[in-house]
Amino acid sequence: MTAHDYGANRSSVRVSPAQHPARTLVRRGLLVAAATVAAGALLLTALGTQAGAAGTSLKTLAEAKGVYFGTALTQSNLSNSTLTAVASSQFDMVTPGNEMKWDTTEPSNGTYNFAPGDAIVSYAQANGMRVRGHNLVWHSQLPSWVSSLPTAQVQAAMESHITTEATHYKGKVYSWDVVNEPFNDDGTLRQDAFYAAMGSGYIADALRTAHVADPNAKLYLNDYNIEGENAKSDAMYSLVASLRSQGVPIDGVGLESHFILGQVPSTMKANMQRFTALGVNVAVTELDDRILLPATAANLAQQATDYATVINDCLGVSGCVGVSQWGVGDADSWIPGFFSGYGAATMYDSNYQPKPAYNAAVTALGGAGSTSSPSASASASASPTSSPTGAAGSCRVADVVNAWNTGLTENITITNTGTSTVNGWSLGFTLASGQTVTSAWNTTISPSTGTVKATSLSYNGTLAPGAATTIGFQATHAGNTAAPASFTLNGSACSVG
Ligand code: G3I
Repeated sequence: MTAHDYGANRSSVRVSPAQHPARTLVRRGLLVAAATVAAGALLLTALGTQAGAAGTSLKTLAEAKGVYFGTALTQSNLSNSTLTAVASSQFDMVTPGNEMKWDTTEPSNGTYNFAPGDAIVSYAQANGMRVRGHNLVWHSQLPSWVSSLPTAQVQAAMESHITTEATHYKGKVYSWDVVNEPFNDDGTLRQDAFYAAMGSGYIADALRTAHVADPNAKLYLNDYNIEGENAKSDAMYSLVASLRSQGVPIDGVGLESHFILGQVPSTMKANMQRFTALGVNVAVTELDDRILLPATAANLAQQATDYATVINDCLGVSGCVGVSQWGVGDADSWIPGFFSGYGAATMYDSNYQPKPAYNAAVTALGGAGSTSSPSASASASASPTSSPTGAAGSCRVADVVNAWNTGLTENITITNTGTSTVNGWSLGFTLASGQTVTSAWNTTISPSTGTVKATSLSYNGTLAPGAATTIGFQATHAGNTAAPASFTLNGSACSVG
């Protein structure tokens, strides 16, 4: 597998209407949990969460629709209190990013290490979140001792691994991705160590073994590029149909959903429906939507549309149990490390401020509390949400410049250190001589040289006391890469640092 394997595919439409009991069951569970949710909503409002519009959260809205909203978390994420504040207030499902994979859990034959996975489970339990176990069998992040085994020993090693790990987490995970990414993009099965040892039968064997170890866990096959109807999802469909007809325990199909901006397949909902018609659930398991940087207002608006499309597709299919994003914010995303030049793939910016995609998700989930509709964000203009008020000398600006020989990017975090809410803002500063702004994100900057004003957009103009927002821009320079020496917010000087 290469990084470029992860992307969106397009194909033709085939519709199989489906009714599935799963959503009803979840809704029944929600009735039981209703009091908890209501109490939690008060707490969330009190927390105020810098994550989004006050009084709304993705998980509360999702639960009201009978689905969950999840995120991936890694162990190192747990020591970032800003990140965990967002994670626990917004998400109700956690997928360990790496901690339950074979290279971590059984690094050498018969030696198990569950400490990293346990840390994620403890965090989830402490915050009332469920866990998607990820994963038991995968060709990647597979320790070399497995692929070096004589073929005749692979089945026993696989069964032993599944039994030991699924037993360890018995009762603690909602679901398992039992086999991860079994297919090539052309729909043939990946020729990995498991296939080499057992042929296609390794998949049924893995599912049966997991079911014995944890009969209550929902058992999934998970893959990428199976979101729309195409050769790969056709192959997954045929496999699931065959497994079901043989009575093999399989409960769901995970659609990873690592999308490229503007390329959510138009057949995604129909594809989900054909799977649920087989009697299995579907889930969006690893959603992100990568942008060729820098992210412009138009890019962010398209990303908002993409997120809304995915969520609406899931909500429109009764067997779609939830949506999980792969990482909390842009700072946690795998995208920049795997796809050169791409990033900004999640709903939160690198300071955990909600992006237009967050507001679009809230709106798609039926929330009314977002600061703007996605379409308002889509037309993201220089206009503040109302006449600028507040912030008389009550602001702090932190500025980070990354420069190269002819260009630079600058990220500016504005914090309202005053006691009144800012409703629409304009940040004034003077660019160093020779610098010319070529693009900006989360703001509009005018003019492009000299003394400029960066103006709030429809989705980030409101800054409650203590709240912060981050904007940025790319510029060319002629040798002077200095950051502005001073800033004003709505005409009043800010502290810098
Ligand atoms: O732990 C080592 C560390 O010791 C070493 O110094 C460092 C140097 O590169 O690497 C660290 O391992 C990295 C590991 O993540 C843990 O951080 C690997 O290099 C890196 O390749 C690995 O990437 C993970 C990737 O799966 C591997 O395929 C990503 O974090 C993880 O988000 C990603 O998740 C996958 C899903 O499981 C399946 N679907 C696709 C998704 C995105 O690739």
